[in-house]
Amino acid sequence: MQPVKTQAKETNPLIALPGDLDPQRLPQHLAVIMDGNGRWAQQRHLPRVRGHQKGVQALKRLLQLCGHWGIPALTTYAFSTENWQRPEEEVSFLMTLFEQVLKQELDALDEAQVRLRFLGELDGLPLVLQEHIAEATHRTAHNNRVRLNVCTNYGGRRELVQVARRLAQDVRQGLLDPDDINETRFAKLLLTAGDPDPDLLIRTSGEFRISNFLLWQLAYAEIHITHVLWPDFDQVALATALRDFQQRQRRYGTLQAPPAEP
Ligand code: IPE
Ligand code: IPE
Ligand code: MG
Repeated sequence: MQPVKTQAKETNPLIALPGDLDPQRLPQHLAVIMDGNGRWAQQRHLPRVRGHQKGVQALKRLLQLCGHWGIPALTTYAFSTENWQRPEEEVSFLMTLFEQVLKQELDALDEAQVRLRFLGELDGLPLVLQEHIAEATHRTAHNNRVRLNVCTNYGGRRELVQVARRLAQDVRQGLLDPDDINETRFAKLLLTAGDPDPDLLIRTSGEFRISNFLLWQLAYAEIHITHVLWPDFDQVALATALRDFQQRQRRYGTLQAPPAEP
């Protein structure tokens, strides 16, 4: 375990895991659809992009909480393959925002031992952003406190099509027998390969849909929908989601919950 400084910080009641939550039963991979930035801004008669700026702070807050509370993997939805259909100013604002945030936060992320990866069709992003992403991915590759995946130009269907294409190429080259294609082999080609499937999905802003996010990986995730808009998502909202998660009985299609882990 790392520095005494970190341990001292964790006894701070403001960032300690709330006492009623069981530290042994936290999600091992949390997925979040960060939705409601535009509505947050509109409610305040501000331009939508102000909501996106505020949303960055909410993500920083959540990432810190994952580090302090012991949630080792976090996958967030930042920009979908469908979001290109928004007005050009909003799209270009977002691209510049991603770039600025990466530039500003990289040192702190690295210091906090965050491993950062961007999942999606990265070659569709502006070149400068691609460069920042490559640098951040490389620099943080060996960190292991929290694994943060940011889904950018990401679409679940697109991801599955890419896997199908790669398998088909292997078959064409005679490297793979179609009969050997199974779930394990398929999942190894997903962008999230190496991380377990998310066990909890949070969607903010009260929308009850998946919006093309992690279609394969969410097969058995517990889903928590909150009306909180993403820029307002805080410690209380996370604790509420975790409490909800810890009350679920996960059955995976069987008739009984698996026995509690010792
Ligand atoms: C989520 O907030 C962020 C992105 C999709 C980039 P929205 O921008 O979708 O906010 P609402 O849903 O319009 O309020
Ligand atoms: C999903 O939110 C994508 C992200 C949060 C990045 P959207 O706001 O794009 O989804 P819909 O349009 O409400 O389904
Ligand atoms: Mg939205």
